[in-house]
Amino acid sequence: MFFLQNTKRFIRYITCFPRQCRCKSDAAFESKKHRIKHGPSLKDFIIQSTGASDVPNHPPHIPYLPENYGDTSKRKVYFDVYGCQMNLSDTEIVWSILQKEGFEKTEKEEEADIFLVMTCAIREGAENKIWNRLDHLRGYKRRRSVSRNRHKPIKIGILGCMAERLKEKLIEKEKAVDVVAGPDSYRDLPRLLALTESGQTAVNVLLSLDETYADVVPVRLNQNSVSAFISIMRGCDNMCTYCIVPFTRGRERSRAAASIVDEVRHLADSGVKEVTLLGQNVNSYRDVTEQSGRSDTQLATGFKTVYKSKKGGLRFADLLDKVSSVDPEMRIRFTAAHPKDFPDEVLQVISERPNICKMLHLPAQAGSSSVLERMRRGYSREAYLRLVAHVRAVIPGVGLSTDMICGFCGETDEEFEETMTLMDIVDYNVAFLFPYSMREKTTAYRRYKDDVPDEVKKERHARMIEIYRRKCQRLHEAEIGNVHLVLVEGIVPKTGQILGRNEHYIKVVFDDVEIPSGEGNRGVKPGDYVGVRILSAKSSVLTGVALYHSSIGEFYKDYGWADRGLLREQNA
Ligand code: SAH
Ligand code: SF4
Ligand code: F3S
Repeated sequence: MFFLQNTKRFIRYITCFPRQCRCKSDAAFESKKHRIKHGPSLKDFIIQSTGASDVPNHPPHIPYLPENYGDTSKRKVYFDVYGCQMNLSDTEIVWSILQKEGFEKTEKEEEADIFLVMTCAIREGAENKIWNRLDHLRGYKRRRSVSRNRHKPIKIGILGCMAERLKEKLIEKEKAVDVVAGPDSYRDLPRLLALTESGQTAVNVLLSLDETYADVVPVRLNQNSVSAFISIMRGCDNMCTYCIVPFTRGRERSRAAASIVDEVRHLADSGVKEVTLLGQNVNSYRDVTEQSGRSDTQLATGFKTVYKSKKGGLRFADLLDKVSSVDPEMRIRFTAAHPKDFPDEVLQVISERPNICKMLHLPAQAGSSSVLERMRRGYSREAYLRLVAHVRAVIPGVGLSTDMICGFCGETDEEFEETMTLMDIVDYNVAFLFPYSMREKTTAYRRYKDDVPDEVKKERHARMIEIYRRKCQRLHEAEIGNVHLVLVEGIVPKTGQILGRNEHYIKVVFDDVEIPSGEGNRGVKPGDYVGVRILSAKSSVLTGVALYHSSIGEFYKDYGWADRGLLREQNA
């Protein structure tokens, strides 16, 4: 019965599985009969599809180890990372997996044996950047293969969302590529790379229903950074009609809360001062392996989903509670969130905990209800504006950020003007603004026409940028004279000034001077919290003067974030 229901998937599983045999003929390898004989078994498929409990939950990676498995140790890997923060976090997972197998990492192209490109497929422009990089790598590979000093040719692996979107087509289109690995197959990378040692190409683009890499402790690429990313969930079930992510990252699944809390603790112990919880839709987080004391909440009026609401388990509010309790001096941020999943319990935890940054990403995507309907966002302009007002009432002083798309299928001038008025009303502190880019496979690709001309998209995009910069500048100018708590990140290379970020994740720069701390005056270093009075403002950076060393506990002892104007009086 199981097999009958899943025949198509089984055939795809076998045919997509990378080459594991030693047959010389490509034609023989391409036949399904051959693949059934030499490929993974039905048992492997059932394990992968059902997540049966007496076997590992992730796909049966490394079932057939090539004879040269292990030859790859000490090979040097160079990472190229494109796309969103999830890709950065995934690269740290990949690096952890490879490091365990004896690979080394290099920052120098000329030392690299393997180039791994972590890719993004969100817009055509994102993919074009990667094709350009591949052009360069192809030339580099050719030059290196004729160099007499090298014993082994370099290998190129394409990982991430573009790998998942294009699958084998990537190798057909770009012959220099040796490995293609989708977001759920990173455990398989050591084997895939070993396969390439004998000149084969290797592809694993299987998506999983339950892979979260919960047991892989990521190895941070920048060990000196005061901030770190933690992936708390993978995939997305929202199916916004314009978006490729559900097709490249698969179904939504959450990582167990216990493993997230362990990672936060480990990072806190190693001196990290800020963690960002990552996922495509973090506020629909649900750890069904644990029980929450809370009863299930309904979506707010005016919001709906295309999938059934999940029941039971630990929710995002529970996770925020646990994570923010690990170390009260560690800043907690999260992204991305969906406007539909901001129940009061989440807003309450954010407002009560001084270390959860009062900055929310509420991606509107458009300001017109009819466009939002075509985008299948699950809310109207009015519902979104009601949410903004509610969030501002529960969390005074909260900063808001958004993503906006212009030129979506059928967007009229009037509809676009509604996006402009929404941006005018909401006063975003940060906005990521994109011209629409049609993606194959999406509902919009199948159902709508990409009929807004490029010049119109460009012009609308420029107008969004203009209004955003103008409004943002005004918001920032209103901060002049206020004192912000700044987490120091490092130094501005050009000026030697200190660079940090305020609660709203806006860059703040100030001169490196000795300032009062508990034990007399001392200088400033990365990881310090400093009270900085803002003196001047641009749309993307604030400049100030350092007043004193501080901490989250101290800074917010007497005054909340929203009362920072009072600190101005106190420190005048
Ligand atoms: N899950 C997140 C992020 C998704 S990708 C969220 O929902 O907020 C980041 C942003 O890229 C999206 O929010 C959207 O604004 C933009 N985007 C996605 N698909 C796009 C497309 N086809 N064309 C232009 N922008 C797109
Ligand atoms: Fe894409 Fe929508 Fe999912 Fe965000 S919520 S990843 S925009 S489908
Ligand atoms: Fe790009 Fe994939 Fe992130 S498409 S935006 S790298 S989830």
